[in-house]
Amino acid sequence: MGCQYFDPCTGGANSFTVAMPRLTFGRGVLSETGSRAAALRLKRVALFTDSHLLNGPLVAMVRESLKKSAIEVVVFSDIRIEPDDDTIMRAAHFLSDAKTDGVVSVGGGSVIDTAKGALLIQAHGGHIREYFAPPVGNSRAAPGPVAPHIACPTTSGTGSECTSISVIRIGELNSKFVAASPHLLPDAAIVDPQCCDSLPANIVASTGFDLLCHALECYTARAYTKWDEVSDVNARQYLQGANPFSDLGAREALDIAGKYLQRGVADSSDQEARDKLMWGATLAGIAFGNSGTHLPHAMSYGITHLMKDITSKDYTMASPFVPHGISVIVCAPSIFRYTAEGAPQRHMEAASFLSADTTGATLDDAGEVLAMRLIELMRSTHIPNGLSGVGFGVDDITALTQSSVRQKRAIANAPRESNSVDMENMYRDAVSYW
Ligand SMILES: [Fe+2]
Repeated sequence: MGCQYFDPCTGGANSFTVAMPRLTFGRGVLSETGSRAAALRLKRVALFTDSHLLNGPLVAMVRESLKKSAIEVVVFSDIRIEPDDDTIMRAAHFLSDAKTDGVVSVGGGSVIDTAKGALLIQAHGGHIREYFAPPVGNSRAAPGPVAPHIACPTTSGTGSECTSISVIRIGELNSKFVAASPHLLPDAAIVDPQCCDSLPANIVASTGFDLLCHALECYTARAYTKWDEVSDVNARQYLQGANPFSDLGAREALDIAGKYLQRGVADSSDQEARDKLMWGATLAGIAFGNSGTHLPHAMSYGITHLMKDITSKDYTMASPFVPHGISVIVCAPSIFRYTAEGAPQRHMEAASFLSADTTGATLDDAGEVLAMRLIELMRSTHIPNGLSGVGFGVDDITALTQSSVRQKRAIANAPRESNSVDMENMYRDAVSYW
């Protein structure tokens, strides 16, 4: 069945292209940043980070390493969680004014995605909105490379250091959208698990569910053979559906999430668990960066668009704020109950990788088995109980659906087709689970 998932389809793709940055992983590797930058022939870099990390030990380590390699550094730290298009344009102007020849980003997905967007505008001009698909822009393609980018993630969730996408809040529409281009892939990813040593439990939980959903959506995504073959091979997006390469990282990342997520949340001194989660986030990033996500991410954007008065423990963001990983996982059990019909074997396998008990289950049970395992993991890590746990009720379902149906490519990457009514039903079934 595993191979049959990629059986040829008439008019469908018969090939796939994959990519990942030059990846360095291990405790202490932030101190290699200077050498990596020097190898890319960088002389003057912009260090992108946020205000919380700016004066902390991780940024200090990176600055010291760059200094040792005689690389000049200018800092851009005016980046909030979930950056918007204005942030990108400000950052791009900063790069142009500072005459830098590359970027080192140190932070979570917000920092890394800001760097990608700013590098794009620095190299090719225009407004960042033009590079998004309708209804935001006109799908302007990046015509060529951008300046070198070394990405150093500081949470075990985003995977952005390994992807060619940038997720940006578009101020005018007050919602997040995805820009994708092979040229947005960082040149180097430096992943140092020590970054997660001091993360509070709730941040490990929410970013952990982001990594889990990246892997799960990747493994259950529509097969690449069901997407149309492209006419220009050089323009082939890496968001191309599940494929044999993305399966590799997704399987292992699911196994890690199933074994170590609860441990990493429960005990901040469990270094083995937290190191494994960082590796899992990296693998999941490589995996979904070459396949794309689907409905849980698409439907999370309605939540972060319409969230009302709400804050999350351990995050310093003002209300309204729901962490990305939580916005993704709260609907996931309901969604996988729905999508299992389109790829039951894959859903059952994914449940098994997540250490679910599949004894006696048939393929008809795949969605339920997977959903119950997700709910078990959510409850044991104190994740909010579905939509109602993040401030939404049945009266919000129409608005949530109207917002999320705009994420057309991610919706089309699901293994089962869905229309607005189906999405409303998925939101309704996600209001509460226990
Ligand atoms: Fe995500």
